[in-house]
Amino acid sequence: MAENTLMEKLVSLAKRRGFVFQSSEIYGGLGSVWDYGPLGVELKKNVKDRWWRAMVHARDDIEGLDAAILMHPRVWEASGHVAGFTDPLVDCKQCKNRFRADDKRIKGTPGQPDAQCPVCGSKGTLTEPRLFNLMFKTFMGPVEEQAAIVFLRPETAQGIYVNYQNVLNSSRQRVPFGIAQIGKAFRNEITPGNFIFRTREFEQMEMQFFVKPGTDMEWFERWREWRMEWHKSIGLNPAKLRWHAHGPGELAHYAKAAFDIEYEFPFGWQEIEGVHNRSDFDLGRHQEYSGKKLEYFDQAANERYLPYIVETSAGADRVTLTLMADAYREENVEGETRVVLGFDPGIAPIKAGVFPLVKKDGMPELADRIYHDLKKQFTVFYDDSGAIGRRYRRMDEAGTPFCITVDGETQVGQTVTVRARDAMTQERVAIAQLGEYIGSRIRGA
Ligand code: GAP
Repeated sequence: MAENTLMEKLVSLAKRRGFVFQSSEIYGGLGSVWDYGPLGVELKKNVKDRWWRAMVHARDDIEGLDAAILMHPRVWEASGHVAGFTDPLVDCKQCKNRFRADDKRIKGTPGQPDAQCPVCGSKGTLTEPRLFNLMFKTFMGPVEEQAAIVFLRPETAQGIYVNYQNVLNSSRQRVPFGIAQIGKAFRNEITPGNFIFRTREFEQMEMQFFVKPGTDMEWFERWREWRMEWHKSIGLNPAKLRWHAHGPGELAHYAKAAFDIEYEFPFGWQEIEGVHNRSDFDLGRHQEYSGKKLEYFDQAANERYLPYIVETSAGADRVTLTLMADAYREENVEGETRVVLGFDPGIAPIKAGVFPLVKKDGMPELADRIYHDLKKQFTVFYDDSGAIGRRYRRMDEAGTPFCITVDGETQVGQTVTVRARDAMTQERVAIAQLGEYIGSRIRGA
């Protein structure tokens, strides 16, 4: 399948089946902002739940947090975002389009006569690069003045740093320990795109791990390993995952070491998560800007220090897109194309479809009873419309791993058929065993 065709197919399937819609579509849409439909919200929720379970519930050394999106404006001065969270922007004076100065499609040097606009092709019409801050601004209170400016957070991490002492004082944690948070972040990206890959409003799943200086690289390596394992555990194809080490020119201002987990998308290898050794940069800056001591007192060693931070930062939307791209396949079945989202059963938005074979002989009533029973434990979908083959295909497209059909034998033997999405094989299962059957196949959910 041609690579861009796959993305077009994904976008179209996402809309048709209710995974993702363009924001404010009836008004023509809003640039690179997306809404999640009934299936998409379940899929993304499963991503976040799996992350939360692995990072918070399954560990003794990490606490959860939900900090506000709006923060004191000084936070963004301390973090370096006011001064440095910028992209170089160039305009085409001819067609009025805007680009990042490092856009690979630009031929020549922006600002010089040889530079060519990648959209209208004009030469010498691109302006000199100027720095553009990616933070969204708004005003707090009724007066729109400089003193009232606040920002929509461009990352969730800062909410963790400013609460590090609150969490330490209110929990039983001692260094080394971590704080995890899932939440919205906003960036006024100049070149968003590739569907929900790079958007202006997105969700991050970030964890900051506070460690004793000198032990930071050990923790950094551990976290690299654990995070790669997590991506495999949600069903991503390991052959499409790799590490990218940041070279000296690539490292962010706060980072001592950084690696990205990349996935091979139809549009190339791209970052889905960053693991960073942020040293004591963040706590050091917040200590300086707030005037509050943020040192940790290690009672056992009787010493004070500013902890180093190892950060793991993944995008919930980006992981959701990764799962969809990884799961999409087309098969030829008896001369027809079968579209399948082959999600791992634990991550699939719907776990089972429940169908009466025909709408008579008590089958709908029985199917309805099974549906309501299973609904207490799993996300299930009832469907009695159309031929059974079409109902299977609809579930294949939604990525549903099991289809349960009530047929003529059900009344007699109290069994149903369970059809597996991938192998398309069917087996008879006792109604009483259905909960156990599905539950045991939902690895990690
Ligand atoms: N606190 C560190 C930080 O924010 P980042 O590399 O800028 O680091 C981390 O972002 C992750 O957030 C990325 O790996 C990506 O998954 C997600 N992300 C960043 N910008 C995004 C955007 N515009 N749209 C969707 N996801 C984004």
